[in-house]
Amino acid sequence: MHKLQYFACPTAMFRAARPVMGLTLCWALIIAAPGQAREAILEGDRFVPVEAKNGMVVTSHYLATDEALKVLEQGGNAVDAAVTTAFALAVTQPRSGNIGGGGFMLISSEQRDEVVAIDYRERAPALASRDMFLATDGSADEALSRYSHKSAGVPGTVAGLALALERYGTISLAQALAPAIRLAEEGFIIPARFSDGINDAADKLRQHESSRKIFFKPDGSSYEPGERFIQKDLAATLKRIAEQGVNGFYQGTTADLIVAEMQRGGGLITHEDLKNYQPALRQPVHGNYRGYDIYSMSPPSSGGAHILQILNILEGFPIASTGHNSALTIHLMAEAMTRAYADRSKYLGDSDFVQVPIKGLTSKTYAEQLRGEIKQEQATASATLLPGNPAPYESNDTTHFSIVDKFGNAVSNTYTINFSYGSHIVVDGAGFLLNNEMDDFSAKPGVANAYGLIGGEANKIEPNKRMLSSMSPTIVKKDGKNFLVTGSPGGSRIITTTLQVLMNVIDHRLNIQAAVSAPRVHHQWLPDEIRIEEGISPDTIRLLEQLGHTVVRKDAMGASQSIMVGGDGRLYGGADPRRSTSSAKGF
Ligand code: GLY
Repeated sequence: MHKLQYFACPTAMFRAARPVMGLTLCWALIIAAPGQAREAILEGDRFVPVEAKNGMVVTSHYLATDEALKVLEQGGNAVDAAVTTAFALAVTQPRSGNIGGGGFMLISSEQRDEVVAIDYRERAPALASRDMFLATDGSADEALSRYSHKSAGVPGTVAGLALALERYGTISLAQALAPAIRLAEEGFIIPARFSDGINDAADKLRQHESSRKIFFKPDGSSYEPGERFIQKDLAATLKRIAEQGVNGFYQGTTADLIVAEMQRGGGLITHEDLKNYQPALRQPVHGNYRGYDIYSMSPPSSGGAHILQILNILEGFPIASTGHNSALTIHLMAEAMTRAYADRSKYLGDSDFVQVPIKGLTSKTYAEQLRGEIKQEQATASATLLPGNPAPYESNDTTHFSIVDKFGNAVSNTYTINFSYGSHIVVDGAGFLLNNEMDDFSAKPGVANAYGLIGGEANKIEPNKRMLSSMSPTIVKKDGKNFLVTGSPGGSRIITTTLQVLMNVIDHRLNIQAAVSAPRVHHQWLPDEIRIEEGISPDTIRLLEQLGHTVVRKDAMGASQSIMVGGDGRLYGGADPRRSTSSAKGF
């Protein structure tokens, strides 16, 4: 039980009494903080998670969920299932599932009492240079950084998945690839989300003959829901990996096809870049929130550091009592978020190249200092935090999945080709899309990327460097046991989406399905606005506006495929209803 109380006022217990929205409200001292999120699903809950005992898989595509579940049922562990899922998504969900991109995987083993991170983020080619996306007038050339062959970083997915399996899995790479090869070779029935996505991206996909051949019929018409989608080139590429391991991708025929594609389109990736690509084992960032151990992704992701920073700031407020998605709670969250994103613009980059002050950013003392700046009765104007003028463009992309097995392992994986369909360029003859992750660097320090995120010197382009990410695969442990596995796609909104799933469970004691489904909010410092999903009440919006916030209604944010482990060991899966193909299954 949470011991936090929110009183109607006045004794010496209270650390502050402030007029908020016409009411005088008081913070109770934070007493006996460690909360215990609810473990059982109560009869009558509005959202019911999927429940199982021996294994749980939650992904953004039911076909990938099915393949991973089979692996668990046959005695494989969560890493075996994760690698199988990732390859299956590369076939069934090419808008974000990939072998042409990169990502991060967190693996928690209760047996070894460790949480490790595999960083398989793309790297800049050796020929990349700081000003490569600047036009002759010195402005950042968005078409070049987002939709050209130069927008592609050296892909890391195949090397990362192979490393995960080699160190922590029990099945072979060929076994993990078998379902993906079958799905590519024999095809699968197209759901509406698949054909709708291609139709939305059709203009850009049709610009490249290699992409047109894959995503449209020979007569140029679109595939319809219910039709079968076969990918022979991709099947052959996956077979080369199954037969030759990572060399089947980074050397030989596939490498030749990637380099030929680069040469055709003026891209920078060379044979050397591919041969030299290495994933990295990293220490996840780790912090504590109300008695829960939070592990999340370290640089080159900004996600983990800023989730911890925001949680640390909010820990000093009685969030359980201020209430789920109340105006006051959203105000406090937005104030914490804006400060974290302002810091992101200055301090975050690839820690192999620049010093990132992770300890400072995630320290409780720094959080206390930032918390002291927050006024409960007034929004902070972002311009007074740091200047900037970002573009408003945003897109939903990337994909996250969570898996828990019966051996005490949990995997939280987020991977991406950046935009939906990445650069929109298929490697001719190899059948997979190239990422456009180079846009996640600061093309010009101080100028926003596609998500409106400002980057600084720390994230400037350098040869072989990894571009800054927001991907935040996260695992929460309680008393040494895996408790919550979560993460999300959504560009800049990944951090705040993941944060809200954590808070919904830990502070608001929602079950995992309710935590995933609840309406979300987002503030990223610039633009200076709180973005909200449908479902936040007009009264709440009015109160936020009275505090000085600009509130903007946006499309759904993120897609958090999450798992909660109950105290009795039962597994609860929450698939995100924001994706029609999302699927949670257990056994
Ligand atoms: N490409 C989005 C991210 O990595 O944050």
